[in-house]
Amino acid sequence: MRIYKTKDYNEMSRKAANIISAQVIMKPDAVLGLATGSTPLGAYRQLIDWYKKGDLDFSETRSVNLDEYKGLAPSDPQSYAYFMQENFFRHINIKPENTNIPNGLETDENLECRRYNSVIKQLGGIDIQLLGIGNNAHIGFNEPGEAFEKETHCVRLTEDTIQANSRFFSSMDEVPRYAYSTGIKNIMQARNILLIASGTAKAQALYRSLFGPITPLVPASILQLHSNVSIVADEEALSLILEKGLL
Ligand code: PGA
Repeated sequence: MRIYKTKDYNEMSRKAANIISAQVIMKPDAVLGLATGSTPLGAYRQLIDWYKKGDLDFSETRSVNLDEYKGLAPSDPQSYAYFMQENFFRHINIKPENTNIPNGLETDENLECRRYNSVIKQLGGIDIQLLGIGNNAHIGFNEPGEAFEKETHCVRLTEDTIQANSRFFSSMDEVPRYAYSTGIKNIMQARNILLIASGTAKAQALYRSLFGPITPLVPASILQLHSNVSIVADEEALSLILEKGLL
């Protein structure tokens, strides 16, 4: 595991974008595992900027997103499909047919989970999986629990997550209670993993994930078992780790 310490969010974003762009340059048809949330926004902005300058080409790139709220249409501004369009896809030359996100409108959970697992399989697996981390150390919507969920599943979001995500909605009641998420096995099968974190709110989750026991109660702790993980985090997110002299 490599830990890159950055001084702030902007430097974290540039470093993460550098790692992703290296992948796209070396393998133009790479499969990018993508994430939503506030943390990746700066990296997406940087990649868009490099694309506009002519330094990056996404015409052959494929993508597969981690998760989607159940019940939201892609046209819903709160959906992750909409987020990806607005914040990344529509600004670059990735082909719409090469982008994949769970279908929030599919009510048959088994059908959607099977479909999404086979999408990942048919793409030949994920070359680099970008991850944020929840305050409760979730990755994707793999919430703390008694066991690691392996593949795509429908998850009931924890109160922690509903509360954290309510900032994007007009009220807590509007936050969907269920989501489709790829599982820990899908994530762990990615050839490379890039986890990004910024701000003191993530310090505890990051410390427990990187240096604590590996347990489904701290979903990101499983990453300690992956042989190609890069952590790019700013000083605030790393504060507890730095304080304990672990870095
Ligand atoms: P954030 O979310 O980037 O909005 O902090 C991260 C996550 O919940 O995975």
